[in-house]
Amino acid sequence: MKILVTGGAGFIGANFIIYWLKRHPHDQIINLDKLTYAGNLENLSGVENNPHYRFVHGDICDRPLVDRLVAKVDVILHFAAESHVDRSIIDPAPFVKTNIEGTYVLLEAARKNGKKRFHHISTDEVFGALPLNTAEKFTPQTPYRPHSPYSASKAASDHLVRAYHDTFALPITISNCSNNFGPYQFPEKLIALAVTNLIEDKSVPVYGDGLYVRDWLYVEDHCEAIDLIVHKGTIGETYLLGALSDQSPQRTNLDIIKQIIKMMGKEEGVISFVQDRPGHDRRYAIDWSATAATLGWRPRHRFDEALQLTLAWYQDHQNWWKRVKTGAYRDYYQKQYQS
Ligand code: NAD
Ligand code: DAU
Repeated sequence: MKILVTGGAGFIGANFIIYWLKRHPHDQIINLDKLTYAGNLENLSGVENNPHYRFVHGDICDRPLVDRLVAKVDVILHFAAESHVDRSIIDPAPFVKTNIEGTYVLLEAARKNGKKRFHHISTDEVFGALPLNTAEKFTPQTPYRPHSPYSASKAASDHLVRAYHDTFALPITISNCSNNFGPYQFPEKLIALAVTNLIEDKSVPVYGDGLYVRDWLYVEDHCEAIDLIVHKGTIGETYLLGALSDQSPQRTNLDIIKQIIKMMGKEEGVISFVQDRPGHDRRYAIDWSATAATLGWRPRHRFDEALQLTLAWYQDHQNWWKRVKTGAYRDYYQKQYQS
């Protein structure tokens, strides 16, 4: 199979390319990535000399380039996006451009080049928020109700992908996944930020009351789900992916931060309650039973074990994240936390 991966130098895309080349060593991957602040080719140093892998530096909004690349492949796996909610609050413009227009450019290229198979990687944030301490979960039938410019732009991209199926018979699938964590996550997202700050003896910023709930999934389990969708998914279908919602009680951000602090032998005094995120979604929880029933998928990693693996990875890869935490990242960090 010849695959175009977009955004493969980012967190999930890089984990996915590493995963795929191990599992499917005869497939060919072209990775199209703009290398924004979140794209890091160091993530892929282990595969850069693999003859089955090729990197193309470019923008998914560049129509001629996208058209040329799409013509060469059988399948498009679309990860590229502006992905951080807080950045979308500071400046929504790149989110509208990349997440909506970029998806449109890819869909058009897929349609015009013989209706290429298209899998769209999306998020549970399109469904909005659930109240705390209820048993309610997102299902494939939950209406869209996004609250941030990020989730609104992802919702728009999902609608476009579905429209290309219904209108042009483009063979698409969509996955809406919950929060991922694991190796190579940019240290602006909660778990990576907390772990790296703790190693550096810095405080851990917790938004508002900290009583927000996410449905954390280890990134490798997400990669495995995409593999199953590509090989066994039903065209036109949407698959929901999550993990922690399978367990009770619900774990808040504060619970998770305290767990990390304990695992790292630190004191809870390092927690710094900071101003809340505007429009902050209270809780996400995914009912992934339909995905389990149709694809036989379920997360392989238990949260506590996966957290341990993640902590160990950040301990062992300090050069990686220390380089990431310089330059553009530092400017952003100062603006976000006024420090
Ligand atoms: P990320 O921010 O770590 O990586 C995004 C990648 O896309 C980067 O390599 C960046 O350079 C690239 N990119 C951005 N704009 C581009 C453009 N215009 N053209 C080409 N490349 C571009 O994101 P991530 O966390 O790896 O998320 C990947 C996908 O998964 C996104 O679509 C996101 O919405 C979705 N998702 C993420 C999570 C999560 O918890 N991280 C959960 C569910 C879904
Ligand atoms: O749900 C899937 C989504 O998960 C993906 O679509 C997004 O791309 C990804 O960024 C993630 O979005 P969140 O906003 O949930 O992730 P983030 O790591 O930014 O925040 C997780 C929770 O932690 C959220 O409730 C906000 C809170 N938080 C975050 C940061 C960065 C803090 O309390 N302090 C922080 O410093």
